[in-house]
Amino acid sequence: MRLQHLFTSLAGAALLLSCSGNSVIEDFEHGLDNWTPQGDVFQGTSQGGDATGYQGAAYLKSVDDDALSGSLTSSPFKIAKPYINMLVGGPRALGFGGPSTAIRLLVDGQEVRTASSISAEPNNLEWISWDVKDLIGKEASIKIDVAPARTFGTRRMPRGYLLVDQIQQGPKRLSSFFDEYAVTLKADKKYILIPGANSGVNSRLSVEVDGVNILGNAQSARPAATDIEYWIPINVEKYAGKDVTVKLTGIRTTDAVYGAVRTSDDPGNDPHETYRPLVHFSPAFGWTNDPNGMVYVNGEWHLALQYNPYGTSHGNMHWGLSISKDLIHWEDAPAIIAPDELGSIFSGSAVVDHENTAGFGKDAVVAIYTSAGAGQRQSIAWSADGGYTFNKYPGNPVLADPAERDFRDPKVNRIGDQWVMALACGQVIRFYGSKDLKEWYFLSDFGTGYGSHEGVWECPDLMRFNYGGQEKWVLFVSINPGGPNGGSITQYFIGQFDGKRFKADPLPYPLWVDEGVDNYAGVTFADAPDGRTVFMGWMSNWAYTGQTPTHVFRNGMTLPRDLSLKSNGRHTILASVPSPEVYAARGAEKAVDGATGADAFELPEILAGNKGAYEIDFTVVPDAKGVFSFNLSNSKGETTVWTFDLERNKLLLDRSKSGLVGFSPSFAAKPVEVKLNPRKEYKCQLFVDKLSTELFINDGDMVFTNCVFPTEVYNRFGVGAQGCKFTVKDVKVYELN
Ligand code: FRU
Repeated sequence: MRLQHLFTSLAGAALLLSCSGNSVIEDFEHGLDNWTPQGDVFQGTSQGGDATGYQGAAYLKSVDDDALSGSLTSSPFKIAKPYINMLVGGPRALGFGGPSTAIRLLVDGQEVRTASSISAEPNNLEWISWDVKDLIGKEASIKIDVAPARTFGTRRMPRGYLLVDQIQQGPKRLSSFFDEYAVTLKADKKYILIPGANSGVNSRLSVEVDGVNILGNAQSARPAATDIEYWIPINVEKYAGKDVTVKLTGIRTTDAVYGAVRTSDDPGNDPHETYRPLVHFSPAFGWTNDPNGMVYVNGEWHLALQYNPYGTSHGNMHWGLSISKDLIHWEDAPAIIAPDELGSIFSGSAVVDHENTAGFGKDAVVAIYTSAGAGQRQSIAWSADGGYTFNKYPGNPVLADPAERDFRDPKVNRIGDQWVMALACGQVIRFYGSKDLKEWYFLSDFGTGYGSHEGVWECPDLMRFNYGGQEKWVLFVSINPGGPNGGSITQYFIGQFDGKRFKADPLPYPLWVDEGVDNYAGVTFADAPDGRTVFMGWMSNWAYTGQTPTHVFRNGMTLPRDLSLKSNGRHTILASVPSPEVYAARGAEKAVDGATGADAFELPEILAGNKGAYEIDFTVVPDAKGVFSFNLSNSKGETTVWTFDLERNKLLLDRSKSGLVGFSPSFAAKPVEVKLNPRKEYKCQLFVDKLSTELFINDGDMVFTNCVFPTEVYNRFGVGAQGCKFTVKDVKVYELN
């Protein structure tokens, strides 16, 4: 029976050899006699209906019913031409380990090629081509496979359906689509540049030299389909003169990336795009979220960061590295820790091992991070060159707990004669101890019943302060989502740590490190000089960070801040003030006359030739309870308004007319509203840097960090009031650079 089919199909193929040199394997015009069915998802051929793009009268369509599955396997045929082309439709494959509803080419029972629908319009059939030059002469069969529906956690994945027609062999590829698009270039310049766009094709990227992927694993990338938004720079200096092959999956000849990968001595991207901060860290190219492994070493500030070197959205998590001598100007260095078989490299910390407790050498910089793969586990890596290059410890992971799903972001401190790790674990912070950074023992859990549990707990930090001669400890916990103004925010607790357990003082928790919406996952530098506690946070919010309107880079860090404890008049709080280094970025002081008993004050030009980075200091003294507000604005009428509602003890920020706001409904729909600590006067220090505003009130009473995207630099400042009059004094402006 099978043999007979073989003869018919081979004879049929020979008969149907057209003048273009194509021979048809199956056109579905004559039923399914040449196919062996399994399951019940194929119930004959179809005609007409919603389908487009098929040839002749009939085509194959699987029944669109998630309850059904099955396959059709063709009679064997001989591969005789360089390409197998076929028309395929159906919903596009849905991630998770590759398409299981697919068409497969089998040789000796092994799957040697796979195809699934590439069609944007599910009922439209499009050409897909397999390059089978290496298989010519082999006997093969085709299996059309509709897998059962699958469930991932609570998500049920529809298994899709397939439309197939006109399977044929021929001398040419008929598809504009490459399962894998490969370009080989000579490394004659410093970089290979791949055109990318955040709206681009979801693709897997490998860059091969001598058959080895120099990126480690395949990375996700978004090669440009239409407009080129940025160039993905791959540094190939090390491979000068060699052939480098860039491989990208799922590319069409019509995509902008096709034929446009090139070499260059320049990384290709505009370093001065509109919202590029001037005195804040932002990566030259790519995505960043949390600051990681911040450490002061050999007179340099090292900022490692959650980093995607191949795109401007979260993914491919590496530890990037940037270094500063002055804590303000940063220079990117090559990424230090890349994903591996244990997973992506999530957040963590770094310490200097002065006493060589780990055996990696005296003063080795040791990074402790989360390996996020199948579960979350803690790993370490060490640097013998002052934090520029790292070696992964072969015994990784050093800490695992298969029972915990959210088990990450180790922050390690030297406390007494042990290392203490604070680790976010679901909705508690778990403390572990270690003598050598390799073996960890459980100390305690903190958190149940304390503070905000509106989101997952992440990115802890534990720090010691001397407060009026008393030792006090502060524990940071970032939460996402669940911030009072939406999205992510960092809370803190003040209390005691006895080397084992953290005990929180009774305070009106939750208390926030920064009341604004754009300061998350911040932690402090290890080994900061002079016993200082120096903090930086990620200046964005998970609620909208994926959509913010930057192109070449996405996100940066806050200004560095020195932390201490103080009283707000009612209880102890954590005070953040700009680190003294920030003042070195000031240009000449411009003092401006204030006003007394006023209900309006205007500074029509903040700075002549304003480049977008400046500090405005001023003190407002209201004469009664009422409402006063100050604002920044530009000639386009875009404005950001801070309102002090003294009746309600609230501070509000209105970003609704601040510039670009429509990129996410979570950005400006509602004003940011926070508690205000009532004072007689409000001493304000407002730092603006292209996309950021950081307001420090009354020397650490409160800090309020929020991003804005004006389409022209704000160069006007105003103060107004209702229900009170005010004095505005000590008005000073500094350019920052
Ligand atoms: C916080 C966070 C961390 C995690 C990292 C992943 O923003 O979610 O908990 O380690 O980002 O990039």
